[in-house]
Amino acid sequence: MQQKAEGNEHNERNADNRPGYFGEFGGRYVPETLTHALEELEESYERYRNDPEFVEELDRLARDFVGRPTPFMFAERLTEKWGGADVYFKREDLAHTGAHKINNTLGQILLAERMGKSRIIAETGAGQHGVATATVAALYGKECVVYMGEEDTRRQRLNVTRMELMGATVVPVKSGSATLKDAVNEAIRDWVANVEDTHYIIGSVVGPSPYPRIVRDLQAVIGREIEHQSRERLGGVPDAIVACVGAGSNAIGAFHPFVGREGVRLVGVEAAGRGIESGEHGASLAAGKLGVLHGAMCYVLQSEDGQITEAHSISAGLDYPAVGPEHSFLRDGELAEYVSVTDEAALEAFTLCSRKEGIIPALETAHAISHAEKVARELGPGKSLVINLSGRGDKDVETASEALGAARE
Ligand SMILES: Cc1ncc(COP(=O)(O)O)c(C=O)c1O
Repeated sequence: MQQKAEGNEHNERNADNRPGYFGEFGGRYVPETLTHALEELEESYERYRNDPEFVEELDRLARDFVGRPTPFMFAERLTEKWGGADVYFKREDLAHTGAHKINNTLGQILLAERMGKSRIIAETGAGQHGVATATVAALYGKECVVYMGEEDTRRQRLNVTRMELMGATVVPVKSGSATLKDAVNEAIRDWVANVEDTHYIIGSVVGPSPYPRIVRDLQAVIGREIEHQSRERLGGVPDAIVACVGAGSNAIGAFHPFVGREGVRLVGVEAAGRGIESGEHGASLAAGKLGVLHGAMCYVLQSEDGQITEAHSISAGLDYPAVGPEHSFLRDGELAEYVSVTDEAALEAFTLCSRKEGIIPALETAHAISHAEKVARELGPGKSLVINLSGRGDKDVETASEALGAARE
């Protein structure tokens, strides 16, 4: 399956053709010092995205290093239990390093190489993006520094060790809630100071233009494979695709080729944490307001007076207080549906998937699995539903067993 980037038709979706915007969302709200680096990245992406050598290198590594195409699997026992649509899993959990994050880091390291950058920085929440970045930095022999909230270094110790084994320096960030938002702030600070030799590999479809589009295009390999595999296996496109939404990269990757197509429901699942009413959640589309975070206009969790509020989710990859600009646009244009699922319901789905299908999913993914039951029942027998299994749950075993233990007491 070719990794070749998409044409322009879905790149930026807005009526007045403002580059870098999806409707009113997106843009480039950054200090002047970064403008040049973003222009350089944009030029490099335009130059290489359809360059035969670039495409060949990305394709080869996707196949030989990452293990693409990832399998498309019939989840027979979940289908039976739910008694609705046939349920399929897109197995991004089987991609090298255990999550979809590798698709993006691989493409970006190839760009960094072509821009002559010797140093790579990244932020990480659950650690999967940090691990994917450390992996490609090792593969290309580059210095790598990963910023990670101190709270997350505790929750995701296994991933800290993995990054360090691959030669990355992990910097624990103590400010704010010591989670993902604070790690991004530190990474941006580092980038401003070292922009000449450093490329910042952003881990999701957020940040200033051109990141949301580059990350989306690199993750769209998931959706292209879903389309190809479902045509082969189901004789047509699926009736629905369900994916979890932290900042939104695995979801946009799975949705991208299907946006605007009649008959394919696209369903994004945010973290409702302890319940939307509790205020402790990560559901930026359900409860956020228009604002700017990390360089882009999007839906952001904020107080009455516009202060960014802390997000909460049992899953470290979903507790980000904003969501990518393209999701904000898809939601407002009713091109995709967005819902949210609590910590408790996600934990239930985590156990259910492990027991029924022999797959321990990431806690992020468990949010998508939980809501998929409702969609499967709504669609009914004879229809098909694909859940994007964004990652595997090794990293979450400790968190889940603590939470399940507490729930039993
Ligand atoms: C397995 C997994 N799924 C989903 C996410 C959420 O990110 P995104 O919404 O960008 O896919 C993460 C983030 O760390 C993750 O590790």
